[in-house]
Amino acid sequence: MRRAVCPGSFDPVTLGHLDVVRRAASLFDEVVVAVGTNPSKSRLFSAEERLSMLERACAGIERVRVASFSGLLTDFCTANDVHAIVKGLRAGTDFDYELPMAHMNATLAPGVETVYLPTSAGWSFVSSSLVKEVAGFGGDVSAFLPDFVHEALLGRLTVDLTSGDAASGD
Ligand code: PNS
Repeated sequence: MRRAVCPGSFDPVTLGHLDVVRRAASLFDEVVVAVGTNPSKSRLFSAEERLSMLERACAGIERVRVASFSGLLTDFCTANDVHAIVKGLRAGTDFDYELPMAHMNATLAPGVETVYLPTSAGWSFVSSSLVKEVAGFGGDVSAFLPDFVHEALLGRLTVDLTSGDAASGD
């Protein structure tokens, strides 16, 4: 079985993420969407919330399951018999950021290939961090998120703005 992982912070999951997950699922026997839970990074949504939103968002996608991981991605790959790391690339800046990680991961786990998918044009400017920033200033980001994620984001931003705790993380 050819198994791939789509790793990320998913804070929160966007329709751009789901587009990459769907397309990865058409290329592999199984895709594990894996939420990185590094506790040293500040996130708007907790690891449990991000996992729960991903599970709901991916529920209808065949050959896809959702998991979380802490520690090295390559350790997750080894433990779960994963052969490929799939990442979406929006622009050259993504490539500059991702290439050293691909080289490092290839050194740590030589049997695991990194595969890049260009994001679909319609999502090429969409990121979790941009969506949070725009939503934080009252902009309409409903076109970029599953409906239930949009509702959760608006609820969380209302709480954060009320408490004076500015939203952060990507
Ligand atoms: O959505 P993001 O923030 O771009 O996701 C980054 C993520 C979680 C995929 C990346 O930070 C990662 O792989 N973290 C696990 C720790 C690790 O393996 N670090 C070394 C990477 S070479």
